[in-house]
Amino acid sequence: MEIPKRSYNCGELSVQNVGESVHLYGWVYHRRHHGGLFFLDLRDRYGLIQVVFRPENAKLFSEAENLSGEDVIYIKGVVVQRPVDAFNKDLPTGEVEVLAEKLDVLNKSKVPPFQIEDEVKATEEHRLEWRYLDLRRPIMQKGIIQRHKAAQATREYLNKNDFLEIETPILMKSTPEGARDYLVPSRKHKGKFYALPQSPQTYKQLLMISGYDRYYQLARCFRDEDLRADRQPEFTQIDIEMSFVNPEDVMEMAEGLLSHIIFKTRGISLKTPFLKLKYSDALTRYGSDKPDLRIPLEIQDFSDVAKNSGFKIFASCIQNGGVVRGLKIPGGAQLSRSELDQLAKDIECFNAKGLVNFKISGAEISSPILKFLSEGEIAKLREIYKPGDGDIIFMVADSETVVANSLGFLLTHLAERFNLYSKETFTPLWITDMPLLEHSETEDRLMATHHPFTAPVEKDIPLLLENPMAVKAKAYDLVLNGFEIAGGSIRNHKVDVQRKVFEAIKISESEAEEKFGFLLNALQFGAPPHGGIAFGFDRLVMLIAGETSIRNIIPFPKTTTALSLMDGSPTTVKPEQLEELGIKLIKEKGK
Ligand code: AMO
Repeated sequence: MEIPKRSYNCGELSVQNVGESVHLYGWVYHRRHHGGLFFLDLRDRYGLIQVVFRPENAKLFSEAENLSGEDVIYIKGVVVQRPVDAFNKDLPTGEVEVLAEKLDVLNKSKVPPFQIEDEVKATEEHRLEWRYLDLRRPIMQKGIIQRHKAAQATREYLNKNDFLEIETPILMKSTPEGARDYLVPSRKHKGKFYALPQSPQTYKQLLMISGYDRYYQLARCFRDEDLRADRQPEFTQIDIEMSFVNPEDVMEMAEGLLSHIIFKTRGISLKTPFLKLKYSDALTRYGSDKPDLRIPLEIQDFSDVAKNSGFKIFASCIQNGGVVRGLKIPGGAQLSRSELDQLAKDIECFNAKGLVNFKISGAEISSPILKFLSEGEIAKLREIYKPGDGDIIFMVADSETVVANSLGFLLTHLAERFNLYSKETFTPLWITDMPLLEHSETEDRLMATHHPFTAPVEKDIPLLLENPMAVKAKAYDLVLNGFEIAGGSIRNHKVDVQRKVFEAIKISESEAEEKFGFLLNALQFGAPPHGGIAFGFDRLVMLIAGETSIRNIIPFPKTTTALSLMDGSPTTVKPEQLEELGIKLIKEKGK
């Protein structure tokens, strides 16, 4: 089939082109009869152009009438100006239309399983099953184009700042820490496995040791973990590593990069330097280690007042080492009894045993526990929370963690419910002063909060073995609008400190040697001081595109149970393939 050269795309014709003969290609979008004419909107990724068919050319007219939605067609025609009263101000091409002279159907389309429109009624599963059609929807194309622009802006900024884009292996050694590894069996070495990288962490450190002092990569990462709206089993990082740096140097570079990306994709300038908040303060003030600073709400402590309270639950909570904290929700007094009961139920999942509330109506305060409080306590309540008419104050008395989780949940949930903030802004902030190690409930052992290569703050190194939980990390997380979009740290470049960290997390010398011997060796050959950061590229693009799920800005994502609904993976494989790999499957019990 001879294809005439496309003269314009569907989004670029304007009054300047009036009178031109044009060759256009695209998909059939909306169609309608009007005033004896037949109109169709031709769509491609650049936009829409209206094509008109006149009844004088009866053959062409009926060919057009026979088109179906999503047929892919060629149009030859002349650009004409629309009558002024037919201008479409919402469309960049809305002042012109193309008078059709020739139409070729390049390929008919079956009836699509759902309408190719921004407002789609199909379920997400259905959309994922037919992803190539879902990706035709203009809103999806906008997100994917923004993703491309964000990637270009990333490269532009980092290239300008002397970074080298270097690829690292996808087949690597299995060293699970945190999430589970995806394993790849080796045919040549039966019984042995590669792992897919959870991140290029060790490679980027090795590159520093090799002297490539500024590295970056748009790196694919693979983690076999439980998935959520902002997690995928395979995702992309903007991975960065730098030599001869302090935390501030990495943070400054990351701020410049994020500002450049946001400016290039959304035209918004971020104010630098970004706010910094200590990890413990974030939990106390916002009940979260990734606070959304677009929300103008803050938790306030009531423990000092509560310790002598006539309300026994408050007083005994403080005596037992707990805290009492509260959160004021402007306008929240309108919450009904059943809504309040539901909120108390909602926070049970954080192990909260109760939720106290104080409703304000004019000068009056009402609360189920008011009768237990002295006048002094009520005065203090007014002083701390400064409630106004129609507000509500929620209080939780429990351990630090339970209180933070419960009030943190109420803060975001009720800010949304009462529409308390504008979603149009970007509010980045750094979380610093994190603990180096944390206790893993699931494994009942100490684990690195970030990863085991993170350096402890120098003055805490002696505490590594005596009081490991007190050791702070030289680490930083970048939070944007309530999402952790990047995390990084200064690394252990001295082998003795690295060994000590392994010891603190109970990795024996022989295990450390077996798992990370290559890195421990490398650290002894002039390893420079180094550190870095990795951005969750998908999360960042999700926020730029104003989406709430990273699946919407990943062309071919998996479901929350790690399935690809379009091609059906993961699938079984032929017995011969398994035999070649020396693998025998064990039947799961009951299947
Ligand atoms: P970390 O594990 O914090 O650090 O990952 C960095 C960023 O990647 C994003 N992210 C994810 N995005 C989508 N799906 C996932 N499953 C997922 N997991 C993480 C987050 C996170 O902030 N090597 C270190 C970085 C370093 O120290 O330089 C690392 O991978 O936005």
